Amino acid sequence: MSEIEMNFENRILSPEFSSSDGEIDYSLRPKFLDEYIGQEKVKENLKVFIQAAKKRGESLDHVLLYGPPGLGKTTLAGIIANEMGVDMRITSGPAIERPGDLAALLTNLGPGDVLFIDEIHRLSRTVEEVLYPSMEDYALDIIIGKGPSARSIRLDLQRFTLIGATTRAGQLSGPLRDRFGVVFRLEIYSPQELACIVHRSANILDIKIYDDAALEIASRSRGTPRIANRLLKRVRDFAEVINKGEITLEVAQNALARLGVDELGLDSIDRRMLETMIKVYGGGPVGLETLAASIGEEAITLEDVYEPYLLQIGFISRTPRGRCATPSAYKHLGLERQGQQSLDSF
Ligand code: ADE
Repeated sequence: MSEIEMNFENRILSPEFSSSDGEIDYSLRPKFLDEYIGQEKVKENLKVFIQAAKKRGESLDHVLLYGPPGLGKTTLAGIIANEMGVDMRITSGPAIERPGDLAALLTNLGPGDVLFIDEIHRLSRTVEEVLYPSMEDYALDIIIGKGPSARSIRLDLQRFTLIGATTRAGQLSGPLRDRFGVVFRLEIYSPQELACIVHRSANILDIKIYDDAALEIASRSRGTPRIANRLLKRVRDFAEVINKGEITLEVAQNALARLGVDELGLDSIDRRMLETMIKVYGGGPVGLETLAASIGEEAITLEDVYEPYLLQIGFISRTPRGRCATPSAYKHLGLERQGQQSLDSF
């Protein structure tokens, strides 16, 4: 394992935001729908909903965005606010500890503003209960006092749009899910879409990159724009040192190999996961918890971060009895399938 990919925090292929993505990540973010590449269905529908809301002079209905990390949920929320011509406040489920925190956020919103709550599945029940009337009636019910003299007063709020983001829509309570008028699932990007994103980012950062090199970076980015932009920046470093900053296919391949990223964007952690499934558990089925314990990762990390891409490229399959490695995974790792494996596990 190279030092660069030693742990999850520093993992170059992590789809999670890392502080080293910093300001550049912000400057690369598209600000309006027309600049946003991919997620065509979501974009088409959003355009209609935004136009209709603007025509009626209303705020946009509440929006729930779900899907794997790194696919641009925060970016899309920012675009919605920009297209609606309103401000956006950003917070997250775990940051809103008490109902009072939520009340402070809501009472500071301007008319039609967007409140973006990342990891909305992590809101506490008590906070969720305060959120319901504010989403539905734009009102806050506040309890004043304690014991027999306690009474509830209702505070009217400005109309606003709540945009909730989550990697785990299944963990959202039914009543909360039902209060979103618009629900979008973000999909993993195709290599062609990611190549367009790499070109766009290279343009903003004033980097010269050839088409085949952009596609090479894109193909190794696990369908995730955040990873594509991060790889582009690291490959640029190699290009500056060995090729006057120009990213050719050869420079890209060389740099990516040195970063420990293989042709399909798998790193040592993916390979360890697949190898464990194959060598220790005969290719599966193996339960997620068991697999996670074997490789020293959290089950939730495997499920949210590693699995979506491995499922997408057809390297693992999910069965009721657990996860299985597919023949393509064996082939990619250069491993032989032992004995007769039952086909119904795929
Ligand atoms: N940068 C990150 N995500 C992007 C996207 N979907 N379109 C354009 N640029 C991006």
